[in-house]
Amino acid sequence: MNRLEVTDLTVAFGRRRTVAVDRLSFTLGQHERLGIIGQSGSGKSVTGLAMIGLLPENAHVSGSILLNGRELVGAPERELRPLRGDEVSMIFQEPMTALDPTMRVGRQIGEVVALHHRDRRGGIHDEVLDWLGRVGMTDPERVARSFPDELSGGQRQRALVAMALANEPGLVICDEPTTALDVIVQRQILDLLDEQLQGRASLFVSHDLAVVRQVCDRVLVMLQGRVVESGKIDDIIEDPQHPYTRGLVAAARIGNHPRGTRLPTMTDFTEGGRA
Ligand SMILES: Nc1ncnc2c1ncn2[C@@H]1O[C@H](COP(=O)(O)OP(=O)(O)OP(=O)(O)O)[C@@H](O)[C@H]1O
Ligand SMILES: [Mg+2]
Repeated sequence: MNRLEVTDLTVAFGRRRTVAVDRLSFTLGQHERLGIIGQSGSGKSVTGLAMIGLLPENAHVSGSILLNGRELVGAPERELRPLRGDEVSMIFQEPMTALDPTMRVGRQIGEVVALHHRDRRGGIHDEVLDWLGRVGMTDPERVARSFPDELSGGQRQRALVAMALANEPGLVICDEPTTALDVIVQRQILDLLDEQLQGRASLFVSHDLAVVRQVCDRVLVMLQGRVVESGKIDDIIEDPQHPYTRGLVAAARIGNHPRGTRLPTMTDFTEGGRA
């Protein structure tokens, strides 16, 4: 069974039914990573939100989204809620808006863990520390005690990754998870995601072809709510068909790093430090 089967998904907003996503169809295998690339306003985030049942109330949705064989379109909130975290989770671009600024980071991750592990109350704190270590925090105890604004942008994004993965969902939606970070931290978070998304399926939204290339096997190119091109990322970079994709590929080449070069990481400058 496919992790996701999306057929003719259409999302329109408001009374005028402005179409944001237009008859989108794709499938995602159990362990596949699909990138979605496209210009601002092309419907990438709306697509991502639809996969986790988090579209706003003014959205009119038609078509079908089968997550592990279960229909999400038209499903009531009480059916969707238990799936979030457990079967599908989402990592957003701006960790400061996704984290609760008034709550310590450890407690926020703990709440996710507790949600689905009611029988293992005693072990929750240990599990939180374990997750903070797995996402590369050098001092999990301190991070767990911190409020979000006491962490760096990279640490906040690591905390979000921990929160998204804490219940081992089979599908992770990443919506521009590194866009708000500087280029060095961006690289570190991509490496982390690359490692932590192993064995899961993911939908990876980005406007950066190089980023999608690092983490995904296949990509959909969206323009004004429609898929204009799709296929293996290497094939598309090699031989883009649509003018928009050609422009993207040409633009990405400008900033390309020669093969084999490695960007410096914080550990190159500080002892054991991590951004
Ligand atoms: N809550 C909403 N109400 C009305 N229109 C919306 C809403 N959310 C999104 N839209 C519209 O849907 C279209 C697609 O938006 P979406 O956020 O998916 O774009 P995107 O591809 O993620 O862009 P970006 O790269 O800037 O994040 C846009 O025209 C946007 O204005
Ligand atoms: Mg978006």
